[in-house]
Amino acid sequence: MKLFIPGPVDVRAEVLEQLSSPLISHRGDEISKLQMSIISKLKQIMKTENDIVISSSSGTGSMEMALRSLTLNRALIISNGAFGDRFYEIAKYNHIDADLHRFNDGSPVDSNILESLLKTNLYDTLTITHNETSTSVMNNLNELSHIWKQFPELVVILDTVSSLGGTQIDVDIHGIDACVSASQKALGLPPGLSFISLSQKAINRMNQIGYKGYYLDLKRVFEMSKLKNQYPSTPTISIMYALDYQLNYILNIEGLENRYHRHLELASYVRNWATKHFELLVEDGYRSNTVTTIKNVKHLDMAFLKKELANKGYLFSNGYGKLKSETFRIAHMGDRTIEELKKYLNLIEEIWQLY
Ligand SMILES: Cc1ncc(COP(=O)(O)O)c(C=O)c1O
Repeated sequence: MKLFIPGPVDVRAEVLEQLSSPLISHRGDEISKLQMSIISKLKQIMKTENDIVISSSSGTGSMEMALRSLTLNRALIISNGAFGDRFYEIAKYNHIDADLHRFNDGSPVDSNILESLLKTNLYDTLTITHNETSTSVMNNLNELSHIWKQFPELVVILDTVSSLGGTQIDVDIHGIDACVSASQKALGLPPGLSFISLSQKAINRMNQIGYKGYYLDLKRVFEMSKLKNQYPSTPTISIMYALDYQLNYILNIEGLENRYHRHLELASYVRNWATKHFELLVEDGYRSNTVTTIKNVKHLDMAFLKKELANKGYLFSNGYGKLKSETFRIAHMGDRTIEELKKYLNLIEEIWQLY
């Protein structure tokens, strides 16, 4: 089955082969070298000099670790979709004081509103979703970082789960204190690993707060990483091998610029196709480079399409949550090629007879 859903994504055969590498001890030089190698490559992708921790959990694990270990008194959760809302759920379940400011599904985060919320001085921590996978809005980091940089005490947590590896993210330039991401989307890997970059401000905050929880405790994970370049418990070693291999491919074989360019080419192709036959949910300037949400303005039968595509070996994605019955999403992230994408869109045209 070819996965045209916005994660997990199809993984190249040679990356999957890495999963069958013989296992090694989680306490020894070899694993430390592997962990160091991954971290140094992730730094290049995140464009940061900051420390990075890797966690053997999916992205939600790192979202929870970051919010719990970095919020001192009160967090501002800015959301424009389901994954932004998730941070608020995490706050509630962890008894973290937080306020949710919700923008409509499909709308970007408005920097003027962000500024007025931060000017209340109620918050020491901010969470924002860079690429809201549920609606395909990519928030503008230039606009938003210009605002959050005015608040030197604020710790900024940015969710880049569905954008890192598919579009440029400048952690240091944008003053992102904790950049959270995961393996199974634009990086083109299986699920099971997530990452958090930590600025000095974030490390100071974490030390001020102290230990929080046990398995998913950012401070413990960070300390073990600094001390031994290892993980406090047994990490998902097989995926670490695949990650190291794929990061090498991204940086040294495909090249970051080429990768971002390919993602943009895929995104433009889908946007043009969608505009020809349907309508796009998101306004120009805020459209994601890794996934596109299309309004089914012709009210065509999506259940029928899904079934027909499945018969041909393709997994189709409806819209998310409230948008499920009115929209559908086309993912264009990871190692997807333009030829594969064209084939998928041609199949949709045939099945729905879009001539
Ligand atoms: C933007 C975003 N954040 C967070 C998550 C949650 O990540 P995970 O499923 O790896 O826990 C996802 C998953 O789809 C996502 O797209």
